[in-house]
Amino acid sequence: MSIYAIIGTVMSMSRKIVLTEDEIPKYWYNILPDLPKPLPPPIDPSTREPVDPRKLEAIFPKSLIQQELSQERWIPIPGEVREAYTIWRPTPLYRAVRLENALKTPARIYYKYEGVSPPGSHKPNTAVAQAYYNMKEGVQVLTTETGAGQWGSALAFATNLFGMKARIYMVRVSYEQKPYRKIMMQAWGAEVIASPSNRTRTGLSILERDPNNPGSLGIAISEAIEDAITHDGVKYSLGSVLNHVLLHQTVQGLEAKKQLEIIDEYPDIVAGCVGGGSSFSGLFWPFYYDVVSGKASKKIRFVATEPTACPTMTKGIYTYDFGDTAKLTPLLPMYTLGSDFIPPPIHAGGLRYHGDAPTLCLLLREGIIEPKAYNQVSVFEAATLFAKTEGIIPAPEPSHTIKYVIDEALKAKETGEEKVILFNLCGHGYFDLKAYQEFFEGNLKPFDYPEDKIKESIQKLIKEYPWIQEIPYVKS
Ligand SMILES: Cc1ncc(COP(=O)(O)O)c(C=O)c1O
Repeated sequence: MSIYAIIGTVMSMSRKIVLTEDEIPKYWYNILPDLPKPLPPPIDPSTREPVDPRKLEAIFPKSLIQQELSQERWIPIPGEVREAYTIWRPTPLYRAVRLENALKTPARIYYKYEGVSPPGSHKPNTAVAQAYYNMKEGVQVLTTETGAGQWGSALAFATNLFGMKARIYMVRVSYEQKPYRKIMMQAWGAEVIASPSNRTRTGLSILERDPNNPGSLGIAISEAIEDAITHDGVKYSLGSVLNHVLLHQTVQGLEAKKQLEIIDEYPDIVAGCVGGGSSFSGLFWPFYYDVVSGKASKKIRFVATEPTACPTMTKGIYTYDFGDTAKLTPLLPMYTLGSDFIPPPIHAGGLRYHGDAPTLCLLLREGIIEPKAYNQVSVFEAATLFAKTEGIIPAPEPSHTIKYVIDEALKAKETGEEKVILFNLCGHGYFDLKAYQEFFEGNLKPFDYPEDKIKESIQKLIKEYPWIQEIPYVKS
């Protein structure tokens, strides 16, 4: 046996595979030039034409608009951003040996653990980049929405690193369920406002109609955008869905590829959960690149998970829809439940968005991504098994993927297949313990969002904007 084979064998038994700081990627990967079809553009509802990028300058800095539209495959990561990444990157890749043993599966399960970042999730991968580009263009305050509080914490952390402020509209139900996330954001100097709020016209008009409105990501986005466009030196920052956000997340997949290479492994399955699609895209895009460039040594399955309570990928309708409730954003081509969707207050707060990233939706439509939906009771059962075996208490969002991975590993046990499964554990659940408590006390209920409500919502949209059906890009 050669020395390299011996090293390979020893490494392949490692519990965790770590990289050094100088192995943090120097480029982000951009999927746009490699999509199977051109991405349908965002549409300006006032002109019914593709959005003029100059219009986006009211809310985003020029450099991020350029990235949003860029056809460059590799985008250099600025030195200051890489330097900030060294606070928690490279993140470890773990082999879930104890989970495998508990399941008695021949599958080999690997997870990229993003919970080691100070805010506890993958979100700062883009928050740091967005804060940096805004700071470079003289922006002093960034506004945003947050659901579970993960994205808000990430932006609070990132703006603080670059001497800026964050103003965060937090979905009211999460604001009440997760007081500690709010305090975390405040510790990094952010202002946190429960949404709907009395700070914006959007919030005021919603509260007038329904003073107990629990809020939604759609409403919080409207408030954060309105705040940005009505104040100088203030811009808006989005934590998912847009291309520039997703490409910043590819540090996960690029590192994971290197880590698997070290132990001479390659995945049969790459899986992740989808709220807007940023964590999953960040992991799978670099493997998708392997596929399109002919470098993949196996046929990979890309599997995306979501809650049955917010089933955008499994039950949503593919059409142009607004990204927010007040219809301030351009129209985006996506699988949607309708931008007036008010989600049931399930505990995976980060997975309660009414739509998904247009890139992800295109790949879903082309059959390149397989969607799977799970109810929250089965998800917490899986999360608990993971916590008992692997030690880490997972966030509810990636626990949807853990549920899928466990099912797949049990299938492999039946067939005897030695499948290699990679997923991203994109956040820890230490601020989600109330959800675990409710699960232990038997108070969590499975919930399927009714299909007729989705149809009703889309019919309402089409009635108001009949020309949406005539936009050529989504007709095929
Ligand atoms: C831990 C965690 N995972 C996943 C998500 C879903 O978002 P995305 O699909 O953009 O990764 C969120 C969103 O807040 C989150 O906090």
